[in-house]
Amino acid sequence: MEYRGYDSWGVAFGKDLSLVKKAGRISEAGKVEESPAYAGLGHTRWATHGGVTEANAHPHTDCTGRVVVAHNGIVENWEELKNELEKKGHEFKSETDTEVIAHLVESEMGETGELDELIEVVRRVFNQLKGLNAILVYFPQMRSIVAFRNGSPMVLGVGEEEHFIASDIPAFLPYTNKVVFINDMEGVVLHEGTAKLIDAVNSKQLPLKVQEVEWSAEEAELGEHPHYLIKEIMEQPQVLARLAEYPEKDIKEVAKLIKESFGTYFTACGTAAHSGMAATYMFADLAKRHVNFAVGSEFYFLEDFLTPESLLIAASQSGETMDTLEAVRAAKRHKSKVVALVNAQGSSLTRIADKTLLLNCGPEKAVLATKSYTAKLAVFLLLASQLNGGLKDGRKLVAKAAKGAKELLEGDAVGEIKGLAGNLKGAEHLYVIGRGVNYPTALEAALKIKEVSYIHAEGFAGGELKHGVIALIEEGTPCMVFVANDRTKESVLSNAKEIKSRGGFIIGVSPDINEVFDVWIEVPDVGEASPIVNAIPAQLLAYYLAVERGLDPDKPRNLAKSVTVK
Ligand code: AGP
Repeated sequence: MEYRGYDSWGVAFGKDLSLVKKAGRISEAGKVEESPAYAGLGHTRWATHGGVTEANAHPHTDCTGRVVVAHNGIVENWEELKNELEKKGHEFKSETDTEVIAHLVESEMGETGELDELIEVVRRVFNQLKGLNAILVYFPQMRSIVAFRNGSPMVLGVGEEEHFIASDIPAFLPYTNKVVFINDMEGVVLHEGTAKLIDAVNSKQLPLKVQEVEWSAEEAELGEHPHYLIKEIMEQPQVLARLAEYPEKDIKEVAKLIKESFGTYFTACGTAAHSGMAATYMFADLAKRHVNFAVGSEFYFLEDFLTPESLLIAASQSGETMDTLEAVRAAKRHKSKVVALVNAQGSSLTRIADKTLLLNCGPEKAVLATKSYTAKLAVFLLLASQLNGGLKDGRKLVAKAAKGAKELLEGDAVGEIKGLAGNLKGAEHLYVIGRGVNYPTALEAALKIKEVSYIHAEGFAGGELKHGVIALIEEGTPCMVFVANDRTKESVLSNAKEIKSRGGFIIGVSPDINEVFDVWIEVPDVGEASPIVNAIPAQLLAYYLAVERGLDPDKPRNLAKSVTVK
């Protein structure tokens, strides 16, 4: 689970409660003293309330050690709950909102040792928590775990006489691919080898619907690669080749929803947002369709225009990004239809959407989104092509991009980019420009570089240089220029010349060489699919810059793979 947050970690297990927690990464932890245990709890943290300290690491206990809690989310009313508990004499060891849950359960459970009563206690406590949360309450002496979710992710793994509750499937994929997707306001009770699904509102028992996910354990493992990031970059050709064969029924169904809608909206966050931005160009160019785009956290300004005839397309690798889910919930409030482009099966977004197009790129564990980005671009390209009456052409484009990606990743470009990273590793700034459908490519390239190498990288629309940005250019300033053989080609090349004439160092990512380039990274000419292949050199440069700078490419500082809080 480390990729979901790696400020600190903790484990609690056994009837006599071994509890070990530390600040820092669990992958850097030494051996934890093992002892036989029937049940246990583990947690890796991305800090929200309280600094990154051992005391603030999860799991948290009550005053007596009978209650152990791990939590994902934010308890919005934690301060008033904490004040009440302190008045009753509870002593807190941390600054977290999470610890309040442990003491609240303790204060309501009295001396009971009855599991059914404890389940009721946890359910009542859960319903007192404001905000979007997933909580796991472990009773060591009862060898039981009672968990509830609302908003934050939770999934049940069903193994051979063993069960797992986790935020994400890869946590237990090495042990089972049988899962039960837990809905909001539902809970799970694990006790004596059994698992029970209950309704958090009326405590009624619900049927367990066990499903098998296609993901395999080895797909979630590193294999022979040094890092998940380079593994997932290298997987793109086969992911794209698979997407070129996307089931026609699904593409046609979503294209029909788009056609029938009055007002099409896109929303997503971070890298996923860049795929949505690129899609607005694809829909305009290929399908002659206007789309309203806003990143998830800014989507609120479009909310009043949503009607039951509107369609919102939300893109998200994890399907758990809170900012994206909030935009989707707004659309549902306005009775608009929602289509989701998601990689993680069974994630919250797939369960809210009216229709989901799964990206099927396999587990993406590096914090940086790579294969899920080009996968979204491919699906958007198929949709735009279908709207233009040419799904076949779309498939050819995606297949061409798959082939181009393969050539790129098996060719000299990888070595050239590795060498370039060596030359740029000391750079303080790095600018990226693109035009048209490759303007989002410039933004995405900059995001990749800054979030993993910590070099200040910034992406611009080429045409914006003269409106102020070009003041940043000095002798030797490195600038990556994305060129495609489309109507923006000449203008973006003249932008490169504007930069070069002021001393800039031009890194041209282009199907053709040009005298303005100081370094030329050749990419295949794949027509309207250019954003797909253009993303790859940027991903590789980001990766090698991180390696050159001695950083962890899989777990950049301050980040987490899935941002499940607002
Ligand atoms: C991208 O490299 C980042 N990891 C981040 O911007 C990410 O794309 C964003 O948080 C959205 O995540 P999602 O696709 O899971 O919704």
